[in-house]
Amino acid sequence: MTDQAPRRAHVTGWGRYAPERVLTNRDLERMVDTSDEWIVSRTGIRERRVAAAHETTASMAAVASLRAIRTAGIEPDDIDLILLATLTPDYWMPSTAALVKEAIGNHRAAAMDVAAACSGFVYAFATAQAYIAGGLAKHVLVIGAELLTRFLDYTDRSTCILFGDGAGAVVLSASEEPGGALGIELTTAPEGAYMIWLPAGGAKSPPSAETIARGEHYIRMEGRETYRFATKTMATTALESVRKSGLQASDIDLFIPHQANIRIVEAVAKGLDLPMSKMYVNLDRYGNTSAASVPIALAEAVNEGRVKVGDRIVIVAFGAGFTSGAVTVEWTADPARGPKGDAAVRPDDVRVRLPVDWDSVDPIPPALAALMAEPGPVDVPLDDVVPGEPESAHSEVHA
Ligand code: ACO
Repeated sequence: MTDQAPRRAHVTGWGRYAPERVLTNRDLERMVDTSDEWIVSRTGIRERRVAAAHETTASMAAVASLRAIRTAGIEPDDIDLILLATLTPDYWMPSTAALVKEAIGNHRAAAMDVAAACSGFVYAFATAQAYIAGGLAKHVLVIGAELLTRFLDYTDRSTCILFGDGAGAVVLSASEEPGGALGIELTTAPEGAYMIWLPAGGAKSPPSAETIARGEHYIRMEGRETYRFATKTMATTALESVRKSGLQASDIDLFIPHQANIRIVEAVAKGLDLPMSKMYVNLDRYGNTSAASVPIALAEAVNEGRVKVGDRIVIVAFGAGFTSGAVTVEWTADPARGPKGDAAVRPDDVRVRLPVDWDSVDPIPPALAALMAEPGPVDVPLDDVVPGEPESAHSEVHA
């Protein structure tokens, strides 16, 4: 690479992971006063995924990451920066990105989490682009991963119906070739800071018997205000990113919006004066997976043949904070690589190391316990790991 040529950030790898267990609207009908008809008509969501007891944000992220790395055709050690966007980290510390680094068998990357709620993946993507453009990284792993079902109040019908679990990841690689990430627009509107929030557990209100009794460890949301913000900001943020790319909305082949609510996506299409065929939607199957929603949708859109080499796409999201972000991307990778990358990584092969002298409580929310106890996919032990031995259980991936 010459000193003069601009370093562009191209998406070279993409991958996703969603837990096998499905939580349908009918399941939710048995838990709160709601109906499949209400949920589908107000949100478009039909089902979402729930992580099993052995799964964590890091374990889901590691599977998606290895798939993205395989799709890119590189080795885990080629990654020199790992950015993981989440609002549901496994622990306050260390970062979930650090756990993922070990699980994927990387020995050289810097690793950190990015906190921008549902916009987190887009924020991390933009940060990766800046590292690459600045010559600080060649291959960056950008992940969005969430385990939201453990932070939901399953007596609050206005929130528990919306969210699900999953992870998605991309590899961004430096190149002198044209294309890749183009215009970036990121905004934060702190006047909306308490419209979606999780009150307790942080420094302002540390965990206590009282915070638990008050139900303050669950996500709270002012739905209507959030809806208003989302419909206003998504189109303008996307448009600004497109404008910064020297393009117009009509030049864009596919928008990949945050998958919160079909009515919000429809409002974005209307705001951009575009048909819904230009909007990728999979929220019917996953619900809102927050920071994971855009990378899961991106990976699915590419693998389904909705994105071709030369296409211009826009990833756009909004979330708590109120944050919002969009990146316009000229696609340059062979879409056929995605399914092969997925097939190369089996979730059972991925291990996240756990401490030897500590065991967590059963993480499954009581409201979901009966559902999770029903016969389902076989549990995979993720705790049979000796500290100090970075696990190479994913060695089949390298094989
Ligand atoms: N089933 C049945 N009725 C319900 C349900 C439910 N699941 N939830 C709410 N209702 C009721 C309400 O109680 C209310 O009843 P009332 O009129 O008797 O008081 C009625 O339905 C209408 O409630 P609204 O809140 O006005 O319903 P709305 O049409 O606004 O839809 C929704 C609610 C789906 C939450 C919508 O406001 C929305 O999608 N907002 C955006 C939320 C979002 O995207 N959040 C993610 C943010 S991203 C992040 O960073 C986490």
